[in-house]
Amino acid sequence: MIYITRKEHFNAAHKLHRADWTEEKNAEVFGKCANPNWHGHNYEVFVTVKGEPAAETGFVIDLKFLSKLIKERVIDKLDHKNINMDVDFMKDKMASTEILTIAIWEQLEAEINAKGCYLHCVKLYETENNFVEYFGGK
Ligand code: NI
Repeated sequence: MIYITRKEHFNAAHKLHRADWTEEKNAEVFGKCANPNWHGHNYEVFVTVKGEPAAETGFVIDLKFLSKLIKERVIDKLDHKNINMDVDFMKDKMASTEILTIAIWEQLEAEINAKGCYLHCVKLYETENNFVEYFGGK
């Protein structure tokens, strides 16, 4: 098995907020991310695919295919958007890095695995210091 990673970037706004909590509790639990008038992050997403290199090409996956897939299914939907309001695959979900990472995985897994390789990891940086990794499953 060998692992190959494509990195992409997007800017997006969000807030972490529960309507069933008071403003005080939202502020206490979510901190700056509870700001009612939104705020943005410069996200970096790393998509890692694993498999065996094909005999003819030496590729685990064609990176042109992978970058186009990530762009269409993930980046075009998130870049310069409001994650809470604009993104179909985040509808009715908390806009946390964890939930967003799982949702990105779900956007990509079937089409990558249909190529005879496997989606291995989605790693999402919300800030330079905070990132989430998801390897599928529970
Ligand atoms: Ni935030």
